[in-house]
Amino acid sequence: MLSDLNEIEQEINSFPVNSPEELENFRLKFISRNGLLTGLFEELKNVSREEKPVVGKKLNEVKKLAESKFNTLKAQLDDTGSKKEDIDLTLPAASYSIGREHLISQTLAEMVKIFREIGFKVTDGPELEEEFYNFDALNTPAHHPARDMQDTFYVQSTTDKDKKHVLRTHTSPVQIRTMLQNKPPLRIISPGKVFRNETVTYKNYFMFHQLEGLYIDKNVSMRDLKGVLAYFFKKFYGENTKIRFIPSFFPFTEPSGQVDISCFICGGKGCKTCKETGWLEVGGCGMVDPNVFRSVNIDPEEYTGYAFGMGMERLTMMKYGIKDIRILYQNDVRFLDQF
Ligand code: PHE
Repeated sequence: MLSDLNEIEQEINSFPVNSPEELENFRLKFISRNGLLTGLFEELKNVSREEKPVVGKKLNEVKKLAESKFNTLKAQLDDTGSKKEDIDLTLPAASYSIGREHLISQTLAEMVKIFREIGFKVTDGPELEEEFYNFDALNTPAHHPARDMQDTFYVQSTTDKDKKHVLRTHTSPVQIRTMLQNKPPLRIISPGKVFRNETVTYKNYFMFHQLEGLYIDKNVSMRDLKGVLAYFFKKFYGENTKIRFIPSFFPFTEPSGQVDISCFICGGKGCKTCKETGWLEVGGCGMVDPNVFRSVNIDPEEYTGYAFGMGMERLTMMKYGIKDIRILYQNDVRFLDQF
């Protein structure tokens, strides 16, 4: 019987248990009422007196072995089963993302910083604007063909039928507000949202941002305008950036210009971004029209000034090679997180 016990001991040690079913087989074979060990306890009474202490002791040891293997394996299987929570303390902690400034806000801050350093003050105006500031005072009376240049969102007031409101189509009305409230000399910039009733495409959105600039003093000339814009674009796109003016038209400036910069992708040689021209359009500008000065009671004989306006989305998209304006406003963090 002693040799039987040694065999069983070996069997217990090598019995494979990897699943609850195998564990149950183990229990049935060795520990249960009808198991091998119970049977051997029965047989113990047939063992001779001399042998009994040794065999009995061995039998108890083997029984303990079977029970402790069973308990250990049971605990292990319960652990990996679904009942208990699985915690791996060696895993690195889950990271959480911190918010950041929107790309357009970053551009805005960068532009404002450059202009502040050369003495421009930041001013503000309402996005829901009176028609007077958005058009009339800017030398654009009703039925003026230039109103068609900008598809306007009109807002009808129910309380004051005479005052018509619009969602401002540009930041130029801030020029008027500033000149009505302050005496020249004036040197301001005004960044903010503007709205146009345009079909949304990869390059047009119904809302975008502009940065307006206005400088009024005695003897301000086109040369000052060109100098300040050249300075700004060198800071914004790099020292090698050149600018040029192309004749254009705005009712509130005379003469008016379109501002182009040399393509900073190809350095002016011609590439896909600049459509092989070597130049990129970045804004509008001009000398403040005498009619605008008259509408805000500034004497055009005494003062002259320049104004400019640029689209921030356009400047940003060119800088980072973004092809579709809509992606800026879809709030997809996978995109926004890159900046
Ligand atoms: N307001 C013009 C536009 O939105 C840009 C501009 C600003 C032109 C100032 C001249 C002077 O297109």
